[in-house]
Amino acid sequence: MSLSVLSPDAVCSERMAARRVIEAFENGAEIDDATLDRVLGLRIAAVEGRLDTLALLDRYGVQRFDQGDLTYEVVRAFHHALAPEIHSRPDLRLLDLGCGYGRFGLYGAILHNLTAHGLELVAERADEARRAAAGLGLERVTFESGDMLQAVWPAADVYCLMNSVLPDLLPPVVERLRAEALARRIVIASVSTSNRAFADADWLRPLPVTAEGVAGRELRIWESV
Ligand SMILES: C[S@@+](CC[C@H](N)C(=O)[O-])C[C@H]1O[C@@H](n2cnc3c(N)ncnc32)[C@H](O)[C@@H]1O
Repeated sequence: MSLSVLSPDAVCSERMAARRVIEAFENGAEIDDATLDRVLGLRIAAVEGRLDTLALLDRYGVQRFDQGDLTYEVVRAFHHALAPEIHSRPDLRLLDLGCGYGRFGLYGAILHNLTAHGLELVAERADEARRAAAGLGLERVTFESGDMLQAVWPAADVYCLMNSVLPDLLPPVVERLRAEALARRIVIASVSTSNRAFADADWLRPLPVTAEGVAGRELRIWESV
């Protein structure tokens, strides 16, 4: 998909095609991650192929910048768990901290017209996510390159922290989320090491997640109290 040649009609038809595939996936069709990336317009292998670990270390210092985007099985489980909130609050805002290629936001925007912002350390990934959003005409999804430890966070209602920072860097992120929760009720979704930090937080309580496989084992969601 090359943006320069896409007319508004073509953008709309790309979006409709992506929606049909995502709806089929929602209804249980077996669709692999590569196909879902393709319909969203994400060229992950091509971008990753141009990245160099030593150059990333030079640019960003010691951070968890390996790619490791979560499988769409987890993306789907996240959106299922959030569906009641999304339907009762059309203005709901998602902030994906360490968004990689923006799978969570792009998927939610196609399916629910969700408003989402992704913050990603590696500029090339944020650029690719932004390009994919433009190619689908998703005006409510934005992506920015930046370090979540330093960047300004746009206000949000739902936050994703999907295995995106090293455990040592987690405490200030959890503290910033707690400060956000003083201003309004927030929901936090997480996998892996951050699950333990959130499970220990007395300002959060768990929300149910019904999912099988890796999503059932890994995905946890909390709301602030
Ligand atoms: C495991 S991937 C998860 C990507 C995405 N959330 C998903 O699952 O589809 C973690 C991402 O967080 C990014 N990351 C790591 N440290 C970060 C930081 N301090 N600020 C912003 N992004 C960061 C990495 O570059 C990587 O792309």
